[in-house]
Amino acid sequence: MCTDLGYDGRMAADEKTYRWVNDGELGPGRMRYGADYNPEQWSRDVWHEDVRLMREAGVNIVSLGIFSWALLEPRPGEFDFSWLDEVIELLHAGSIDVDLATATASPPPWMAQLHPEILPQTIDGTVLSPGARQHWRPTSPIFREYALRLVRALGERYADHPAVVAWHISNELGCHNLYDFSDDAARAFRVWLRSRYGTLDALNAAWGTAFWSQHYTDWEQILPPRVAPTQRNPGQQLDFTRFSNDAVRDHLRAEAAVLAEVSPGIPRTTNFMVAQNVRDIDYTTWVGDVDFVSNDHYLRPGEFGRDDLSFWANLTGNIAGGRPWFLMEHATSAVNWREVNTPKRPGELVRDALTHVAHGADAVCYFQWRQSRAGGERYHSAMVPHAGPDSRVFRDVVGLGAQLKELAPVTGSRRERARVALVFDYESWWVSERDSHPTDELRYDVETLNWYRALLDAGNRVDVLPASASFDDYDVVIAPMLHVVPDALRTRLEAVVRGGRHLITTFFSGIVDEHDRVWLGGYPGALRDLLGITVEEFVPLLPDAPVRLVSGAAATQWTERIVRVGVDAEVLDTYADGDLAGAPAVTRRRVGDGTATYVSADLGRDGVRALIERLAADTVALQAHPLAADGRLEVIVREASEQRFVFLANRTDEPVVAATEAGEVEVAPRAVVVLAGTQVLTADPRREVVPA
Ligand code: GLA
Ligand code: GLA
Repeated sequence: MCTDLGYDGRMAADEKTYRWVNDGELGPGRMRYGADYNPEQWSRDVWHEDVRLMREAGVNIVSLGIFSWALLEPRPGEFDFSWLDEVIELLHAGSIDVDLATATASPPPWMAQLHPEILPQTIDGTVLSPGARQHWRPTSPIFREYALRLVRALGERYADHPAVVAWHISNELGCHNLYDFSDDAARAFRVWLRSRYGTLDALNAAWGTAFWSQHYTDWEQILPPRVAPTQRNPGQQLDFTRFSNDAVRDHLRAEAAVLAEVSPGIPRTTNFMVAQNVRDIDYTTWVGDVDFVSNDHYLRPGEFGRDDLSFWANLTGNIAGGRPWFLMEHATSAVNWREVNTPKRPGELVRDALTHVAHGADAVCYFQWRQSRAGGERYHSAMVPHAGPDSRVFRDVVGLGAQLKELAPVTGSRRERARVALVFDYESWWVSERDSHPTDELRYDVETLNWYRALLDAGNRVDVLPASASFDDYDVVIAPMLHVVPDALRTRLEAVVRGGRHLITTFFSGIVDEHDRVWLGGYPGALRDLLGITVEEFVPLLPDAPVRLVSGAAATQWTERIVRVGVDAEVLDTYADGDLAGAPAVTRRRVGDGTATYVSADLGRDGVRALIERLAADTVALQAHPLAADGRLEVIVREASEQRFVFLANRTDEPVVAATEAGEVEVAPRAVVVLAGTQVLTADPRREVVPA
């Protein structure tokens, strides 16, 4: 029933693990285009105009009912689906399909009135009130019961409706309620810990509770890491993050299980938030619980916003295992939740959408269809702005719809692997930014993004790869600030180097095990032998006190005292001033044809680029892609059985010319051109092709 999605929505045979099963062999379908649609905010006459405008724009799917619980169940157990029936029929008559929400994201006011014990508690014990959304504890048995009753009712009612092509479980699970420190959470945390550790002895050892008299003698003594007089136990904090991730995922699983029972023919998804502002959910552990991956992304303002978008889209594609995924939300222009919300500049609406497509999205959807008149998001952009359809945004929306039609052949294709992997490890992100560290200044996402941007600057194609994915097919594996390195990860990194390939890692890597306990014997702990060096001391830098290296690179934030460089390792760069003057800064160990490079300082984007270009002299996989035009274009490739699609994304505000097989292709400022062999697929009016 879902062939229009570009995949057929068949379920995996395994009853517990539902995956999107199409590997692209089913061939192209339609590019999906649409938005969250909230018709309950509008009168019936507007619904009719909506469908007309959706058709004009080429919209073919909407996510419906996300925040409709209070209208669908106005009183406990009393359901009213009449208005939803009407909207779905109207959309269906207009050939617009529905990604139907389970509507459980925001419980109605009556629920908190009846059951205040569903309300989440913050770290300091504050009970969150209703009046916004997501005011529920992920571990509340009462909330779960009400939610699943609604899911069942919706599932039974719409399982066979031809317009419903996907289930949208809840919405951005954990966006506001990931961390709940309530007594429900405490109880569930203890159950989770018992199953992880089995005995209190094992837990005490893992958390190092000999420190500060924290030794536990009864499971009931264990609490979530609530506000305490000073630094809280790091192992407890890390496990509470893992637990909270799993608790929210359990809610996803519970809803998915009901749908599997009452509506087995329709694939299920939930919108992930793979993005810089959502640190503490590890989506690699959720991917087995959805039939297809969908993601939300909001552009980070400022000059690195485009690269930032590319980075997270790249990671999303690899979390999805290289298979196509669904861009469930992004914004046509400004959001309303940053300090200053600037609109998108000309060209950015299309550029952003096509950059997601380049990285594997087979759907381009927005929050939301029609800009709200009332409520907390009234200043958030939409496909139809307050000004109405006679507006720049709506004209761009219609133009994008036309371009997406032309990109239908791309759907179903997979991202072609790059030769360079940039490792992204959620646990290293969480742990490296914890309290009571050598500096509070380090940001894991900024550091990995610096490397990504430097690689693009140097003209490289790169895959942002979750640390749990296989490194086998990459010639170069780059793992900046890989702070948490359990034994198994160490072994996998060793295999890269022993296999004649190249590992590059940086400061503050290899430092702790899976319980945030420090590896002894000198840093970089778990990676010390592989890198052939010993670091004795961290030397973080004060703000505005950079240190120069002999190469000319400037280190900020962080340096280290390397006291041993093994005989099979060489020094590539040396500290030139400061207390470390004369000491090694960048080293490389050779193991057969393989190498292990270590960068002990934060060199920033420019310093990293210079290093990459230097390493590229004898590392072919790091050499610039011929179409990258000196790093001004990002080159991304999607491949189907018969065809390759080359995306050229202009990273600059100037036109850039690429010498392609199709001749010289000019890529307009902030534009994305898609090539299929010698054919140019995108109809960007600002594009010009000059035959060779
Ligand atoms: C999230 C939510 C949407 C909306 C947007 C606004 O993505 O899922 O409901 O609030 O943010 O940017
Ligand atoms: C105080 C405490 C010690 C230790 C140090 C760390 O002096 O008494 O237990 O925490 O701070 O600086």
